[in-house]
Amino acid sequence: MALKSIAVLTSGGDAPGMNAAVRAVVRTGISYGMRVVGVLRGYNGLLNGDVMEMNLRSVSDIIHRGGTILYTARSPEFNTPEGVQKAADNCRKMGIDGVVVIGGDGSFRGARDLTNAGIPCIGIPGTIDNDIASSEYTIGFDTAMNTAVEMVDRLRDTMESHDRCSVVEVMGRRCGDLALQTGIAVGATSILVPEIPYDFQRDIIDRMTFTQKTGKKHFIIIVAEGVGGVDKLAKDIEQATGIETRATVLGHVQRGGSPTLRDRVVGSQMGAIAAKKLYEGYSNRVIVMRGGRIVDLDITEALNMKRVFDKELYDIALRISI
Ligand code: F6P
Repeated sequence: MALKSIAVLTSGGDAPGMNAAVRAVVRTGISYGMRVVGVLRGYNGLLNGDVMEMNLRSVSDIIHRGGTILYTARSPEFNTPEGVQKAADNCRKMGIDGVVVIGGDGSFRGARDLTNAGIPCIGIPGTIDNDIASSEYTIGFDTAMNTAVEMVDRLRDTMESHDRCSVVEVMGRRCGDLALQTGIAVGATSILVPEIPYDFQRDIIDRMTFTQKTGKKHFIIIVAEGVGGVDKLAKDIEQATGIETRATVLGHVQRGGSPTLRDRVVGSQMGAIAAKKLYEGYSNRVIVMRGGRIVDLDITEALNMKRVFDKELYDIALRISI
């Protein structure tokens, strides 16, 4: 049965490109004759009835903007059976027949629960971490990587001028993709990721001293947030090598900024497909990238998938960043 009225929300950490996805959901939904509402601050908006009616112009001038015009939140209240029930009841009261949820794995679990409570949901992967097992790509990843690369390039200028070593923490609590790709792009001597345990002597010091012997004088070590400890690492490196070392945590600067072309396009594609799928009566699906194509999968199936770290790319980094 075709739906008459749908909602869209963004949940969890914001990511550049979420606005492109919201815009696509709104305009595609309207093109199918549906009413579309925007829910503010993630699932909290469903609990509090905090929604706004959307029209074609409500999403004008947002495709180039970072963050999310719908705001976002992590909602402890929604993460309870009572919370899910209340959200579903509120959807029925507000005449919302289905919801597009843009966020990470936690947001997808919420979408699954809300579907089980009778409100069909479709998920879209939006997080800078690229940590969703079912999708090769998550909206925001490309922008975050490009920001991290730009920041590390700036650090490189000053590290090079002083013959120093720079230890840089990039985001990614459970996933080293941001660290790996950034590390390759900036020619990091070592890349530390949560997926692969490291040995201080072998993976950092030996690599630095080897490259030093071949003439290298400044060094970049990229560390994923999930590995952490950059201040101590910098001190230990300085002590072991005698090379002046500074630690930098890039932090939330990686989450902001105007989305890249890739995030605008993938966000637009995923948003449009999600709204169409809801209209056609699909539910409990996630829109993901697999084999470079945008496809849909069952949410529960998607949530049970295990992430595979790109060890081949990691090995390439080890071989060439020397
Ligand atoms: O959205 C993902 C992420 O940026 C992670 O890389 C990071 O660990 C986390 O969110 C930080 O979350 P918060 O919004 O609580 O600071």
